[in-house]
Amino acid sequence: MLSITYTVFLLLAATISNPFPDTQASRIDAMNIPLVVRNSTGPIDLSCVYYVGSEENGLVIKWYHNMDQIYQWIPPMPPQDAGVINGFVEYPEQDPNSRSVIRLKTITLEMSGEYSCTISTFQESDTMRSRMIVYVPETDATIHVSSFNETHLNLTCVASGAHPRPILKLYIEGIEIDDYYDGNEEIELYRKDMSVKRTAFVSNIFEPIVLDCEISIPHTDYKRRERIVYYPVRSLSQISTATTRHITSLSIRAIIIISCTLILLLAY
Ligand SMILES: *[C@@H]1O[C@H](CO)[C@@H](O)[C@H](O)[C@H]1NC(C)=O
Ligand SMILES: *[C@@H]1O[C@H](CO)[C@@H](O)[C@H](O)[C@H]1NC(C)=O
Ligand SMILES: *[C@@H]1O[C@H](CO)[C@@H](O)[C@H](O)[C@H]1NC(C)=O
Repeated sequence: MLSITYTVFLLLAATISNPFPDTQASRIDAMNIPLVVRNSTGPIDLSCVYYVGSEENGLVIKWYHNMDQIYQWIPPMPPQDAGVINGFVEYPEQDPNSRSVIRLKTITLEMSGEYSCTISTFQESDTMRSRMIVYVPETDATIHVSSFNETHLNLTCVASGAHPRPILKLYIEGIEIDDYYDGNEEIELYRKDMSVKRTAFVSNIFEPIVLDCEISIPHTDYKRRERIVYYPVRSLSQISTATTRHITSLSIRAIIIISCTLILLLAY
């Protein structure tokens, strides 16, 4: 009877003396990865900050890029890398008990994606994930203007070389067009040659207009505008038609005046 009470006491004492058992276990505290990076810049550090319980052993740190393993570190051996980061990495001095740092000397487009860091010991394991977007600005952006029918112009903006797929917006005199004509084939086109197209049909006012095409890359703050001033070709003929009509009406009036004068003269 006494021994049972004693055992219960011991169990209680053991529970109370370690009220937060989880804080003693190995875990990842933070993953520091830039959200957005421009292609071919660097160096960039990817770091995984963790805690290793003092009683634990068999520590292994692994990194994955879109599910593919790209790194493994079993201290005190040096880290090993593979896949998209292979050939682009250097390792600064690091403490195997607190962090793993991958220093990417140069960023490539292939490095875009989801990274995860996993630490494991014989007793515990933990994983954390974070996304990094690598972007490339467009190499070319062009605004094309042509006549669509007698009353409307075809405004088309084409941007190529940008990644991820950019969003194009067209502006007339600073005001965004709210009615685009966009076919599905443009998404297919992007996969093939990294170009995007956006078209709108707007009524032709036969006057010079300022046109902008805004290129922006989603999830980044990359935004640029291409601007042209469009001088309508047909406005010249339009002006000359107006002038001709004006002359015509003037000469008709002149004829009337002359006729009236003649009638008056004849009356005398
Ligand atoms: C990314 O940068 C590299 C190195 O400057 C370059 O070779 C590559 O063409 C760039 N990628 C794109 C899609 O522009
Ligand atoms: C020209 O095309 C526009 C856009 O589709 C249409 O609204 C307009 O009625 C057309 N005009 C003529 C003269 O066909
Ligand atoms: C509008 O113009 C673009 C570029 O000039 C051209 O590729 C496209 O076929 C035109 N669209 C129509 C419907 O005329």
